[in-house]
Amino acid sequence: MSFLNLDKEKINATVKELNLLLADYHLYYQKLRNFHWNITGRDFFILHDKFEEMYNDTQVKIDEVAERILTLRYRPVSNYSEYLEKSSLEEAATSLTDIEMIEVLLKDHRTILKQLRTTLNKATDANDEGTADLLTGYIADIEKTSWMLDAWKMKTGENLPKV
Ligand SMILES: [Fe+2]
Repeated sequence: MSFLNLDKEKINATVKELNLLLADYHLYYQKLRNFHWNITGRDFFILHDKFEEMYNDTQVKIDEVAERILTLRYRPVSNYSEYLEKSSLEEAATSLTDIEMIEVLLKDHRTILKQLRTTLNKATDANDEGTADLLTGYIADIEKTSWMLDAWKMKTGENLPKV
């Protein structure tokens, strides 16, 4: 059994995924700073502020994920060289248009959601409710932000399908 009386092998598997998630969040965080600095055009003020709000939220999550790994008594991946190696996200150029930035972020959200769900499945399998609880909230947060970015992309008056 592990430090917290959980199955050691299953916690190993959960932590491995948590470290991949930590790597993804770091690349996502720096991309948001890139976009916060390099946004141009008529939506500058709205998106400059929105990207700041998003990277501040991500900064909190980065710390929570790393500290959850420590709570499980493992070492979080801590260097950028390792984040670049482990993350499924790619860095972005510094010359994107506002729409390109939003599209890149929506694509990254899908990648992060995939990693969040993989990690949640491992945590659930390990009966690790503390990690599962943290990740469930993150999934709802990134889904809600995705809605807002997708709505920003739509034309005024454009409607969603009705079932
Ligand atoms: Fe700033």
